[in-house]
Amino acid sequence: MQQVANLQSLLSGQDSTHAGNYFVSNYPPFSVWNEADVASATERLQRPGNPRTPLGLYIHLPFCRKRCDFCYFRVYTDKNHSEIEAYLDAVVSEASLLSEQGFLAGRTLDFIYIGGGTPSYLSGRQLTRLMKGLRAALPWDAPSEVAFECEPGTLSERKLKVILDFGVNRLSLGVENFDDDILAGNNRAHRSMEVYRAWEWVERVGFEQVNLDLIAGMIGETDAKWSRSVAETARLAPDAVTVYQMEIPFNTTIYREMREGGSTTAPVADWPTKRRWTREAFEALESKGYTVGSAYTAVRDSSKIRFVYRDQLWDGADMLALGVSAFGYLDGVHYQNQPHMQPYMDAVGSGQLPVSRALPITAQEAMIRQFVLKLKLGRLEAEPFRRRFGVDVTSRWADELSLFQEHGLLSFDKERIELTREGLLHVDRLLHAFFLPEHATIRYA
Ligand SMILES: C[S@@+](CC[C@H](N)C(=O)[O-])C[C@H]1O[C@@H](n2cnc3c(N)ncnc32)[C@H](O)[C@@H]1O
Ligand code: SF4
Repeated sequence: MQQVANLQSLLSGQDSTHAGNYFVSNYPPFSVWNEADVASATERLQRPGNPRTPLGLYIHLPFCRKRCDFCYFRVYTDKNHSEIEAYLDAVVSEASLLSEQGFLAGRTLDFIYIGGGTPSYLSGRQLTRLMKGLRAALPWDAPSEVAFECEPGTLSERKLKVILDFGVNRLSLGVENFDDDILAGNNRAHRSMEVYRAWEWVERVGFEQVNLDLIAGMIGETDAKWSRSVAETARLAPDAVTVYQMEIPFNTTIYREMREGGSTTAPVADWPTKRRWTREAFEALESKGYTVGSAYTAVRDSSKIRFVYRDQLWDGADMLALGVSAFGYLDGVHYQNQPHMQPYMDAVGSGQLPVSRALPITAQEAMIRQFVLKLKLGRLEAEPFRRRFGVDVTSRWADELSLFQEHGLLSFDKERIELTREGLLHVDRLLHAFFLPEHATIRYA
């Protein structure tokens, strides 16, 4: 009964936007990863990995022109040229350290995600130097996907050609909104003109896949402005559109200002409004032929568009972390690199892997991790869980699933679970119901 009561409170959760994380990006939560387990990651790296498990690489490039008021990533806006060059050298040195680990023996990289911060903040020359160094150090032969994040105002046609030439086949543009007052009011560095200008170059240079990010619920958003941003997005017709619902984690400028002003409610739309805006965006894109492929994405041609990083990671792939604060996963061991620049630089400078916290997970936690991440796709098959973990997920969570079904959030039978659109729009809130009791109420950050 206690469990059902917990679920009821989960469903009736707060409508207004309070500070804290919404997006569930991993399991168990980061707050239980710890320093005492660092050796489990560094030791796991020394032993051979499973050659049948796909291997990915996440590279964190933490520099931005400005810090957006809503941003919760590790970013720096104050680093000068030589500090950036020193960081790039450290990333290449870290790659060399990784390449000596037994975990990589006989394996090649299947997918690469270059994220940040703003990878496109680097100059064409810096990017070329970095990529040459990384390719020489790592088994970077023919990854099926190389994804690269850009802030539109940092691009030029020449830089885009450099990015294409080192094999990027999924370019992602952080547009967020087309309204200049909203962009300014959230301390975004670019304006809509820079998006349109960059878009021409992106089309001319020609990438296999281009994704455009939007955020539902920026400060100053209105129904009319949101509809216009969605219409402009549809007009540009990128291969994929990602719509995030605005969350206000504790390390954002917005939260700092809330605290200073003594407010507990964020100055952004409430959750029902953000869900409605996301629903409207999905419906507008569907009317133009897009398909909704997860809680956050719509794709123009679902037979062609893949997102290997997401799909492999959510399916339990290994992932090496490169750079300050980067996250990785090694055959059942989560880990994160030093979250601050100086300790990161010091560790790499002294020839050590810069791992700062880790968590070896149990088979049960690995199963839950895969279950909650895959639910974000909106549909889930039970058979792979039986095969891989010996667990019948629809029986194990029959009470939770039945309650969500009664609320119109999903339907399920023995073999599959299918979220309704309403369920998909709520999904990150629902996932906590499947966590182990000791993680269910943990602060997520
Ligand atoms: C690393 S950024 C993308 C690249 C580049 N830094 C940029 O912003 O253009 C990743 C994405 O996270 C999303 N994001 C950042 N903070 C967010 C927040 N508080 N709530 C929802 N989405 C957020 C934005 O859509 C952003 O494009
Ligand atoms: S540009 Fe991207 S990474 Fe940089 S502060 Fe803004 S949202 Fe964060």
